[in-house]
Amino acid sequence: MIEAGPDTAARLGSVSSGNALDLRGVTRMFGALAAIADVTMTVRPGERCAVLGSNGAGKTTLFNCITGDILPNSGTIRLFGEDVTRFPPHERIRRGLRRTYQISLLFGGLTVADNVDLACRGVSRWRFSLLRPRRGDPLLARTDELIEAVHLTRARGRLVSELFYGQQRQLEIALALAGAPRFILFDEPAAGLSPTERRELIEILTNLPRHIGFIIIEHDMDVALRVAESVSMMHNGRVFKEGTPAEIENDSEVQALYLGGAHG
Ligand SMILES: Nc1ncnc2c1ncn2[C@@H]1O[C@H](COP(=O)(O)OP(=O)(O)O)[C@@H](O)[C@H]1O
Ligand SMILES: [Mg+2]
Repeated sequence: MIEAGPDTAARLGSVSSGNALDLRGVTRMFGALAAIADVTMTVRPGERCAVLGSNGAGKTTLFNCITGDILPNSGTIRLFGEDVTRFPPHERIRRGLRRTYQISLLFGGLTVADNVDLACRGVSRWRFSLLRPRRGDPLLARTDELIEAVHLTRARGRLVSELFYGQQRQLEIALALAGAPRFILFDEPAAGLSPTERRELIEILTNLPRHIGFIIIEHDMDVALRVAESVSMMHNGRVFKEGTPAEIENDSEVQALYLGGAHG
């Protein structure tokens, strides 16, 4: 189990009343195309949510608006009660928001442990240092804890470029966990994984600390419906259905959309 450290996010706890995430009427245009249109969504602290939809539905654009990588044209985004709609990404990271990307952004020439250590140092209040950590350094224990949380203990000293693809995705989750996150956005973490790697991913996500809420974007339903408590279905930039995994799985409209060839 990973404990929250004395990080900025914890010190900003005074604004943590209410929802973890609150989207009201969020719209983002690309030219004439509404990549997301009037999206309203609420996630409670610690809640695990899935956003499902076919390619081009607007899922990644939704994440980009939440992280501040792009700004919406209209609507408001609240993070732990605070209006962050116009905040730059680093101000949202300071408030405990993390994300993983669809494309890997790891340092291939470094080991698993070095990548995690750098991530921990990057968010710690101690000076960033490229020196090897010394024994007894408290961040080393944290590094090992995170590596274990994503099932990479045996690959600890391996170069990232030598890892299996699924292990690289697991490492990305460890990086997102560095520095006491309160809310994580996972962008298609199961894409390209083998069935065994998918099972491993489900176990890792299921065992995340309960206080960390997350949204997982998925193209396929299997992983998302196993780890999420609530599901939002997107199509053409809009959320057209919300429910529990069981409700979504048994919904005729969802089935028609997914089995009727729109999925792909
Ligand atoms: N930077 C961009 N410029 C122009 N169009 C974009 C851009 N990003 C996304 N889009 C368009 O917005 C729509 C939603 O894309 P995206 O959010 O990536 O969907 P998803 O992640 O669900 O596959 C798509 O039609 C896509 O082509
Ligand atoms: Mg996407």
